[in-house]
Amino acid sequence: MMLRILACAILLFSATVLSQNVATLRKQAALDQEVTTEPIANEITNDLKVSRNYPMQPPIIPHNIRDYQIDLNVNTCLACHSRRKVTNTQATMVSVTHYMDRDGNFLAAVSPRRYFCTQCHVSQTDAAPLVGNSFVDVKELMAVSKNENE
Ligand code: HEC
Ligand code: HEC
Repeated sequence: MMLRILACAILLFSATVLSQNVATLRKQAALDQEVTTEPIANEITNDLKVSRNYPMQPPIIPHNIRDYQIDLNVNTCLACHSRRKVTNTQATMVSVTHYMDRDGNFLAAVSPRRYFCTQCHVSQTDAAPLVGNSFVDVKELMAVSKNENE
């Protein structure tokens, strides 16, 4: 019993400390306060793919996706990006990982866990990063020891 009370006290304490240091998108405004929100970022729909920051990053979408339906019956994205359609559409084929189930078996169709494309792929925007970071792309590091395969 004592232990539980102690655990609760520690949890409460750390929650309080953390909530003081973490800036939220609402800029730490009280719950009953309204904050002025940033304007919505502009989508970039110039059809130019941008390079990925790391190989396993879901590429961001370089074109308009407004009103592209993705539900039980229709997946508009696959109408262009599926393996069978890409010759006609010249869209990038969804990668092989999208046809794999969680055990690594290949399926004939896009795996259900990769069906809702916009769960992972977002549109390109001109939005500034919400928080700063010191991430360095591996290719910057490689530039130091010039790689001939590049
Ligand atoms: C009308 C055909 C079409 C539809 C529908 C379509 N795309 Fe595309 N997509 C393309 C083409 C073509 C490209 C190549 C770049 C360009 O022309 O915009 C592309 C590029 C992309 C890329 C960039 C790939 C890379 O390697 O950088 C992503 C991600 C993407 N689309 C996701 C989607 C998603 C998600 C949807 C559905 C919400 C979708 N697309 C619907 C044709 C389409
Ligand atoms: C669970 C997250 C997730 C979902 C859902 C998802 N993707 Fe991806 N996608 C990724 C990741 C991660 C990559 C990059 C690594 C890879 O190829 O697996 C990628 C890569 C891609 C690429 C680039 C392939 C290449 O070889 O350059 C395209 C195009 C793409 N996805 C389209 C789609 C479309 C269309 C859908 C919906 C049918 C979709 N993705 C659903 C995570 C996802």
